[in-house]
Amino acid sequence: VKKIIIDCDPGHDDAIAILLAGADPRVDLIGITTVAGNAEVDKTTVNALKVCEIAGLMDTPVAKGASLPLVRKRETAADIHGDSGMDGPLLPMPTKAIADEHAVDFIIRELLASDGDITLVPTGPLTNIAMAMRKEPAIIPKIREIVLMGGGTLGNWTPAAEFNIFVDAEAAKVVFESGVPLTMFGLDLTHKAQATPEIQERIKRINHSVSDFVVELLQFFMQTYKEVFGFEGAPIHDACCVAYCIDPSIFTYRKLHVDIETKGEYSYGMTVIDMLGVTGKEPNVNVALDLDQDKFWELMIETLTKYSKA
Ligand code: BDR
Ligand code: CA
Repeated sequence: VKKIIIDCDPGHDDAIAILLAGADPRVDLIGITTVAGNAEVDKTTVNALKVCEIAGLMDTPVAKGASLPLVRKRETAADIHGDSGMDGPLLPMPTKAIADEHAVDFIIRELLASDGDITLVPTGPLTNIAMAMRKEPAIIPKIREIVLMGGGTLGNWTPAAEFNIFVDAEAAKVVFESGVPLTMFGLDLTHKAQATPEIQERIKRINHSVSDFVVELLQFFMQTYKEVFGFEGAPIHDACCVAYCIDPSIFTYRKLHVDIETKGEYSYGMTVIDMLGVTGKEPNVNVALDLDQDKFWELMIETLTKYSKA
């Protein structure tokens, strides 16, 4: 069983990532930490609590993290996720309490106390992870792996930059240069994980409060992806990271060198991926390139079905 901490900014696809982790026995979700990203951190934290409540994850701690990027001004993604960061489903205000500890301290404490068996799964800007590495560098060799959603050879926030990396590229630079084993799910991969209307139909047929919640998330998310990018389905980016933790054989990868651009005029926040090895630098990232559609969606449906039988 793989121990994971999801560091997230829910976020429609972050919510689905949490649900996937919450029901698959191959991962142990030891905590959720939140960060500003799709919306301000107060909102992403409430959203994380709501997801926990609907999923019955009452014992999973939710620790609130950074409200601003390390250096830059805050940016949010209301055009994609709505003002709340998770518009669409109408859920009651959560009764579950926020953990009594900052996300950065939660991450540090858990890692220091571990045997080096915790995987970090950041699905938002990398602010908390970078802050934890700076506050307590002794955690760095304790991290088993970082499995993150971010970057790619194309951008969705600028032509060069993906949202999570763009929002806090300085934090991304700290993480990518940390020496920790990294697996990256960038847009090239996550755009292949599109929940189409057919997939939505399959989820609908599960016919349970959790699957209904997912359908409502996907309906909103599909609509904004259609309006903003002209897509026919909603890419559930962040869920890919959790799917990898559960079954890495769903994806194919290449080990490549990746640098983070923090100075470019047009390219701030770009993940500069050395596809042809022109830098001669050692690969620092396991870059996910392709996915097995059948296996991926089978896992999603199977896991969501578990909630209806719990
Ligand atoms: C990433 O940005 C957010 O909008 C999504 O939750 C995902 O983590 C995609 O660029
Ligand atoms: Ca996210």
